Amino acid sequence: MTGRPPEGEPEDAVRGEGREHDVPGQRAEHAAPREGRGHAAPGEGRGHAAPGEGAERAAPASLPEGVRERALSAPLPAYVYDLAGLRAHAASVRAATPVELYYAAKANPDPRLLAALAPYVDGVEVSSGGELAHVRATLPGVRTAFGGPGKTDEELAAAVGGRPPVHRLHVESPQELLRLAALRRETDVLLRINLPVAISGAALRMSGPFGMDPEALGTCLDLLERAPWVRLRGLHAHLASGLAAAPLLEVAAQVLGWARTWMEGPKEVTLGGGMAVDYRAPDARFDWAAYGAGLASLRRAEETLRIEPGRALTAYCGWYVTDVLDVKRSHGEWYAVLRGGTHHLRTPVTKGHDQPFTVLPAEGGPARGGPVASGPVTLVGQLCTPKDVFARQVPVDRLAVGDVVAFALAGAYAWNISHHDFLMHPKPAFAYVDL
Ligand SMILES: Cc1ncc(COP(=O)(O)O)c(C=O)c1O
Repeated sequence: MTGRPPEGEPEDAVRGEGREHDVPGQRAEHAAPREGRGHAAPGEGRGHAAPGEGAERAAPASLPEGVRERALSAPLPAYVYDLAGLRAHAASVRAATPVELYYAAKANPDPRLLAALAPYVDGVEVSSGGELAHVRATLPGVRTAFGGPGKTDEELAAAVGGRPPVHRLHVESPQELLRLAALRRETDVLLRINLPVAISGAALRMSGPFGMDPEALGTCLDLLERAPWVRLRGLHAHLASGLAAAPLLEVAAQVLGWARTWMEGPKEVTLGGGMAVDYRAPDARFDWAAYGAGLASLRRAEETLRIEPGRALTAYCGWYVTDVLDVKRSHGEWYAVLRGGTHHLRTPVTKGHDQPFTVLPAEGGPARGGPVASGPVTLVGQLCTPKDVFARQVPVDRLAVGDVVAFALAGAYAWNISHHDFLMHPKPAFAYVDL
C-alpha cells in the first residue's frame, strides 16, 4: 500500500481539468469577509444550493465562536477542530440516511474525530492495515469494513484474525480472494465491482485498479464454491467522488440494477462515499435529505444498503489557522506569505482549488508596520516551491502582517494527506473546541 496516493486524493486528481481559480467570474467567491472579526454571522450564508446543484454565489465560511477564539491565541499555525459542530453534522446525516452508515477513516483518522463520530455511525471503513489497527485501538469493538487495492498477506491475516475480525472485507480481485481463502478463516466478503456506469459531474472517477470488471466475478464465484468459509454477502461499488445528491442517486440506481441481475435474494450493497463538498461555497452542504429519501425509495426489502462517506462528514469541522508573516508585491501582484504552508494543508494543491478562508485582522492595525495588501492577493506558505499556494488572486479588503487567516473545510484530506516533513518547519498545533 505504499507509493500510491490515497484513493480520492490522487496527485493529479484534477490535472487537465482546469483549475477552479481560472474560471472567470469565480474569484470573488473566495473573498475574505469585508470587515471586523466576527465576519459572517452565525447562520449567514446558509441555505446555498447543494454542491454542484447551482451554487453560484459563495459566502465566506462562518467561523464558529470557539474556533474564532482559539484562532486568536498562540500557537499558530494550528488545526482547530469543532467537535460540537462535527457531532451536530453527523447527527443530521444519521437522521437523514435510512441505510447503514460507515465513516471512511481515510478522510481523517484523528482519534478525537473518530470518537465524536462513533455514536452516529454503524462502523468505520478502513483501507490499510495501519488504519485497521488504529481504528481498533481508538474505538475498540467498532465494526470495520476493510477495502482498498493491494492488501498484503499480513493485512489480510490481521483483518480476519484480529479482534474483532473485520465485519466486511471488500475483495478487490480474484487473486486477492485466493490469498484470503488460503487463510481458512470465516470471513464475510463483498466483491468490489468497477462497473462502467454513466457518471456526469464527478470530481474524480475511480477508474483503474479499483475493484473488478464484472467479467472477473465469475472467477470469484468458482473460488468461493471451493472455500465455503468465505461467505459472499454482496457487492461493493465506490465509483466516483464529488457528486451531488441527484447524480449520486443515479449511480446508485445503476449499481443496484446491475446487482439485482447478478445476485438473487438477500444481499448487501455498499454504495461507497463520494458525496460532494463544494470548496467554493463553504457553508453549503450535500443534500443528505434528498439523498436519504432517494436511497429509501431505491432499496428493496431483501437488500441491506450501506454508504461510506469521508469528506462530506468531516471536511466542515476542521480549520487550518495561521498568521501573515510577510506581505509584498512581486511583478505587480500582491502576495501574503503565511506561517506554515501546504505541507500542513495540501488540499488546495491536490484538488487545484483556492482554499476558502476568513481573515481576522490584527488588533490595532498591521503589526510591525509594512505594506497592506488590498485587492487580489495570492496566499502562499513558507515552502521553497511555487506550488506552495493556498489561494490565488483572491480579492481582500486588506491583508497585513500579523493578521490571522483561518482556512475552512480543512477537516478532511488535509493534515493526513500532507507532506509534513518537507523543509523541517515546525508541525502545527492541534486544538479541539467543544462548545
Ligand atoms: C472505497 C472508498 N470508500 C469511501 C471513500 C470516501 O470517499 P469520500 O471521502 O469522497 O466520501 C473512498 C475515497 O476514496 C474510497 O476509496
